[in-house]
Amino acid sequence: MTGPYEISFDPARLQVDVIHEFLRESYWAKEIPRATVETAIRNSLCVAVYDTSTPRASLVGFARVLTDYVSLAYLADVFVLPEHRHHGLGSAMVRAILDHPELQGVRRFLLATLDAHALYARAGFEPLARPQDFMTLRRVTSYSATQSPSEKSVGILFSRKGADGEARGGRIPDRGL
Ligand SMILES: CC(C)(COP(=O)(O)OP(=O)(O)OC[C@H]1O[C@@H](n2cnc3c(N)ncnc32)[C@H](O)[C@@H]1OP(=O)(O)O)[C@@H](O)C(=O)NCCC(=O)NCCS
Repeated sequence: MTGPYEISFDPARLQVDVIHEFLRESYWAKEIPRATVETAIRNSLCVAVYDTSTPRASLVGFARVLTDYVSLAYLADVFVLPEHRHHGLGSAMVRAILDHPELQGVRRFLLATLDAHALYARAGFEPLARPQDFMTLRRVTSYSATQSPSEKSVGILFSRKGADGEARGGRIPDRGL
């Protein structure tokens, strides 16, 4: 990482406007609502890079990890603003996450990428040895501005018997992550 940059895990420093601005235009979270970004940030371990040459130390890179801190960590929403790319910031964030003291017990890191495989390969990531062992259940495919939250929500129907033996049913709301 070269230049006037600082890397931080401090959630209080995150500039949600910048993060939302980038993610709503990204190929993987197009039109994501700001409230969804806020929820995702609140429930993740986030890392960011700041340009310390600007008065406010603007956020220029971001990544977050969904984790239980012991078994699994999923790396998501990795980006560096275009004018700051190719200075090693993306790699520095990935490294900082892998080196984070609270993630040292994690048994497996996962991520999905369309075209940035080389970035993660440098940090030791490799394609799944047995992709056929993994399954996915997709509940939200897009954050379309033309749909209301209830239309976007697919939800999972469930039914079970309560303690009184009566059948219960309902819908687990989709959280759009
Ligand atoms: C991918 C991204 C985070 C890399 O950030 P960065 O700060 O430029 O990363 P680094 O400087 O540490 O490393 C760049 C290297 O990553 C590799 N790389 C692999 N895929 C890449 C991609 N899609 N875009 C840019 N670099 C990529 C290249 O080898 C590149 O080397 P170079 O600088 O010699 O050209 C940044 O390009 C970005 O934000 N892209 C748009 C969002 C995105 O696709 N994020 C990844 C989602 S999984």
